[in-house]
Amino acid sequence: VTERKRELRIAMIGYQFMGAAHSQGWRVAPRFFRLGAEPVLETIVGRDAQKLEYAREMLGWRTATTDWREVVDDPAIDVIDIASPGWTHAEIAIAALNAGKHVICEKPLANSVEEAERMVEAAAAASERGVRSMVAFNYRRVPAIALAREMIQQGRLGSIRQVRALYLQDWLSDPGTLLSWRLDRNLAGAGALGDIGAHAIDTIRFLTSSEIASVTGTTRTFVHRRRSSLGDRSELRDVTVDDAAWFTATLADGLADGAIGSFEATRFSTGRKNSFQLELSGSDGALMFDLERLNELSFFDATLPEGMQGFSKILATHETHPYMANWWPNGNALGWEHTFVHEMKDFIEAIVNESDPSPSFQDGLATQRVIDAVELSASNESRRISLSS
Ligand SMILES: NC(=O)c1ccc[n+]([C@@H]2O[C@H](COP(=O)([O-])OP(=O)(O)OC[C@H]3O[C@@H](n4cnc5c(N)ncnc54)[C@H](O)[C@@H]3O)[C@@H](O)[C@H]2O)c1
Repeated sequence: VTERKRELRIAMIGYQFMGAAHSQGWRVAPRFFRLGAEPVLETIVGRDAQKLEYAREMLGWRTATTDWREVVDDPAIDVIDIASPGWTHAEIAIAALNAGKHVICEKPLANSVEEAERMVEAAAAASERGVRSMVAFNYRRVPAIALAREMIQQGRLGSIRQVRALYLQDWLSDPGTLLSWRLDRNLAGAGALGDIGAHAIDTIRFLTSSEIASVTGTTRTFVHRRRSSLGDRSELRDVTVDDAAWFTATLADGLADGAIGSFEATRFSTGRKNSFQLELSGSDGALMFDLERLNELSFFDATLPEGMQGFSKILATHETHPYMANWWPNGNALGWEHTFVHEMKDFIEAIVNESDPSPSFQDGLATQRVIDAVELSASNESRRISLSS
């Protein structure tokens, strides 16, 4: 007779895009990774009872409720997974941490620096009591990106002089696309900058262990009014966030100390659907990555004799690569959804091992501060803004 495995009972807020992705992560992680606890998809939370019931059945949750406070107060729940829009994050996360629940919260951590600071405070107090928290920057869990980090940490790029991160989408380039919560500053905090720019900032911090020390930014809203999916569709509503953002940065500390960077986040890059491109150039080599080909990592080794140099493609599907030993035989590709499997695996392991997972709420706050500084610069004729901690 084997001993019964510890269970972690999950309640998840939000059942649409990220709700579906997180459900997949919780379901699949324990089937491919041997974990010290079994996640139980206990309760799914949303506002529309009918749609919620459909999601509960489709995504495999045991029960559903339309009030998130119920799961925060429920002693049977161990983990609160926040997969709802930015404006809900601070209130739910702080209540859940204070109630002793482990919290995984979607990015961006919050809609403002002030909210993020309060969340960090609650997370620090909770950690003292053994309660864990993590912000869900899932691209840290792409095997090729995790491999890039390993190579950078091993010094394969030498001293890093330049970093580039472009996150390009085009879903708003059609002015007929309806306004949703993502285009309302009160609900989303920021536009392309806070949504996909946040991934770019976090991934560069992850790869280099460096901090962004100063920025100069430009933001633009190209289409100022749209018909809305929120309420009356005949009415035109104001877009109150950026459609595109571009900024330069200086980096400090870590492995890219003294480097300069350029970042771009846009929902108007015609033809680009979900292209997240990274390029880091150092004295001994360079790395390139594009999310649209996420199993590949391009590496340039500048230490080879000049006549033998050139970018080479590493297929990041080998059993020695991060996360890959538990998947298919060498060479069989993974997809975008597997980042959520890895995210839930790492989160469960941290809870079981009684260690704080990463990225932490503090990491979420660091990204929030950069977003804030870029907005400040953009509204001051792109003046350079220093980030002092
Ligand atoms: N990591 C990623 O790659 C990634 C991708 C997309 C979105 N996100 C983030 O995930 C979060 C959610 O985005 P999404 O794309 O899933 O949005 P969505 O619009 O598809 O879904 C939002 C969900 O939240 C629910 N919700 C909203 N307010 C609620 C409340 N008060 N109580 C309970 N439920 C509530 C809605 O009913 C809906 O189910 C955002 O923070 C977003 O930035 C992350």
